[in-house]
Amino acid sequence: MNICVIGTGYVGLVTGVCFASLGHTVTCVDINEERVDNINSGRPPIYEVGLEEMLKDVLEGGNLSATTDLKTAVQGSEISFICVGTPSGLLGDIDVRFIEQVGRDIGKFLTDDYHVIVMKSTVVPGTTEFSLIQLLESTSEKKAGRDFGVAMNPEFLREGTAIEDFLNPDRIVVGGIDERSTEAVAALYEEFDAPLMRTSPRTAEMIKYATNSFLATKISFINEIGNICKPLDIDSYEVARGLGLDSRISPSFLRSGLGFGGSCFPKDVKAIVGKAKEVYYHPVVLNAALELNETQPLRLIRLAESKIGSLNGKDVVVLGLSFKPGTDDMREAPSIRIISSLLKKGAVVHATDPQALDGAREILGEKVNYYDNAKDAIKHGDLVFIVTEWDDFKDEGLYKGKIVFDGRNIKEARVAKYYEGICW
Ligand code: UGA
Repeated sequence: MNICVIGTGYVGLVTGVCFASLGHTVTCVDINEERVDNINSGRPPIYEVGLEEMLKDVLEGGNLSATTDLKTAVQGSEISFICVGTPSGLLGDIDVRFIEQVGRDIGKFLTDDYHVIVMKSTVVPGTTEFSLIQLLESTSEKKAGRDFGVAMNPEFLREGTAIEDFLNPDRIVVGGIDERSTEAVAALYEEFDAPLMRTSPRTAEMIKYATNSFLATKISFINEIGNICKPLDIDSYEVARGLGLDSRISPSFLRSGLGFGGSCFPKDVKAIVGKAKEVYYHPVVLNAALELNETQPLRLIRLAESKIGSLNGKDVVVLGLSFKPGTDDMREAPSIRIISSLLKKGAVVHATDPQALDGAREILGEKVNYYDNAKDAIKHGDLVFIVTEWDDFKDEGLYKGKIVFDGRNIKEARVAKYYEGICW
């Protein structure tokens, strides 16, 4: 099939490259010319494991190209995926400016050929049916369901394993406005070995939010258990093992520590809380999950202060800046809150990360001393905070003779002269 993918962030590019690798002809569209040029030259504008190699393969095979020309891309394909960003709005809602712009533009370019427009961006329930369709209809002067199709097909891609998650999903959810739209999208996943759920667009939108909200809540839950375990001298990871063996619970997403960051969990939970308020519901559990997550990173600092006293004037080595390993993404990373607080307390911060140094510099500025690797960083202080669990930091040699406060449970760090875990 000829597929148009609009937006070349990590969702759009991974979607485009994966569909192309399955033999479809994909045109990726972005308004940013530099991005488009980079993609056409085989350089993905984002870091994602395996993406560069796969992009080069599909470019060579002629299955993918990128362009800024939306009109030609839409008119040359049968199906368009909207994969543009939905950043947080000022009130914790989502900013749908890009979605609206794309909706209007696609509408202008629809012809008499039947075309299906698929929302892949994460949007609150009702957005596809009420906003997107209205924009498409008003600019195309055509009727959804009769002249063109519309569906919502959420993504469940984790940064760092996005390709693997795309090609081997737990499930596929397709929420079409009618059978024709649903089946056009379902056909793309025919070869996938995963259950495919057919729903309404708003149910598909809600499944995405429910999934991320559940996982975020699961993390806050285990952090809460961990915060209780710590003063009782109980290892929360042992508790999590016992908990996860219950088949009703499952062992994943039970790693306690500094809490969740990234571009999705914090934003999505806030957005669904906002949507709940619109329908006069006050979500108690979701608000609690967010509240606990706000304060969790600072517990590492409080733990250190309670054991060694004031951090004023002390050299602190921070291992890890990105919100999780395997990505250069700094969005909502616990490192931001931890380092800002350390600086406020007068500590001298020496930080390192295998991927996120550039991003961190932009956010944290030059008050922090940055190092390319942990070996160099660790020379600058005996006090070490572990903030992201990169494999590079799983090296006993780094910790010998050090005082370590661990936010991510790195086993190798336990050889330190003095070691404390946040929840264990
Ligand atoms: C998340 C979801 O896992 C994806 O399914 C979803 O598609 C994506 O959001 C999205 O909505 O686009 P991602 O943000 O890449 O993916 O990262 P995760 O691997 O889920 O981790 C999120 C955060 O939770 C990280 O900060 C991680 O350190 C933290 N986490 C995760 C824990 O603190 N404990 C755990 O046990 C697991």
